[in-house]
Amino acid sequence: MPAGLLALGTYVPEKVLTNEDLASFLDTSDEWITTRTGIKERRIAEKNEYAYDLAVKAVEDLLHRHGEEALAEVDQVVVATNAPDAYFPNTAALIQHRFGLKAAAYDLLAGCPGWLYALAQAAGQVEAGIARRVLVIGAEVLSKITDWRDRSTAVLFGDGAGAAVVGQVPEGYGFRSFVLGADGSGGSALHLAALAHSLPDGTRMGHKIYMNGREVFKFAVRVMDTATLEAIEKAGLEKRDIRLFVPHQANLRIIDAARERLGLDWEQVVVNLHKYGNTSTASIPLALKEALDRGLVKDGDHLLFVSFGAGLTWAAAVHTWYGGAA
Ligand code: ACO
Repeated sequence: MPAGLLALGTYVPEKVLTNEDLASFLDTSDEWITTRTGIKERRIAEKNEYAYDLAVKAVEDLLHRHGEEALAEVDQVVVATNAPDAYFPNTAALIQHRFGLKAAAYDLLAGCPGWLYALAQAAGQVEAGIARRVLVIGAEVLSKITDWRDRSTAVLFGDGAGAAVVGQVPEGYGFRSFVLGADGSGGSALHLAALAHSLPDGTRMGHKIYMNGREVFKFAVRVMDTATLEAIEKAGLEKRDIRLFVPHQANLRIIDAARERLGLDWEQVVVNLHKYGNTSTASIPLALKEALDRGLVKDGDHLLFVSFGAGLTWAAAVHTWYGGAA
């Protein structure tokens, strides 16, 4: 049987940081941020709130929406994050313990596409019979690794988490294709040091996010186009078959370029980056839940996901929605 999404929950911290708030301590303006990115505000975790805490709240939301049985057969937990609490133990193991699951657990680091990479792992393992159900979480506290003096990155990111359960769905539903890719030659465009001071190419790294925005922008527009088309083709579908496009929420101009190439109307595109900014691995689950809550997703709809990020990496997927799930 195919694998697909069965349950979803999300969480964003309460604290709101608006563009005006940023302009009070950075040389920037609401006008610049809005026209260049589409972002109006973002959520910021409390001092003592970390990826684990956000992930727990996203799973609690999932349980609230779907009931305790949603986690009943979960035998693997994957947390995709670029801002883990610790090198080890992995955040997923802490989640396994917190919810009393009898499950394997690991974290996955693949930039913003991490949640889609984790869904691919989960779907493959369910289809291969290695796992029955997998809890796939994206959780980020990017505010803690942002250089708040750097206006070119500080205006972009936000904190949040999303959690989904992947399991068997009836024939004709679930994931129809995955496209995953990486090009490490672009690693120096977006980096944050762990133990080493420099990348193999000699690029010096610091302990806050560094990004070459223009380079990432060009890369993003290119891979959003190629990866989505490849995912649609692999799924055996045409562009016109896509009902809803749920892209990574990084920049409205990047989303618009992809929307145009796909020939989609704005009503077919989920956008919520004006409220949350770029929440990295949490961005697609946050957007998907919003689409579900707004009644935009119906049984049998083909959904298209795409993301890009540090690595550089990219991922796209086509999923046919199972109405019996949510
Ligand atoms: N406020 C005001 N001015 C600014 C700001 C700001 N916040 N940031 C940069 N500027 C200035 C620059 O200094 C530059 O000034 P100059 O011309 O005098 O040098 C000018 O604005 C234009 O800068 P650009 O970098 O060319 O602006 P651009 O239109 O490319 O937009 C942006 C910058 C928004 C960062 C864009 O390049 C972008 O979105 N890139 C993709 C980023 C992205 O999606 N990253 C996702 C990473 S995913 C992950 O894994 C974390």
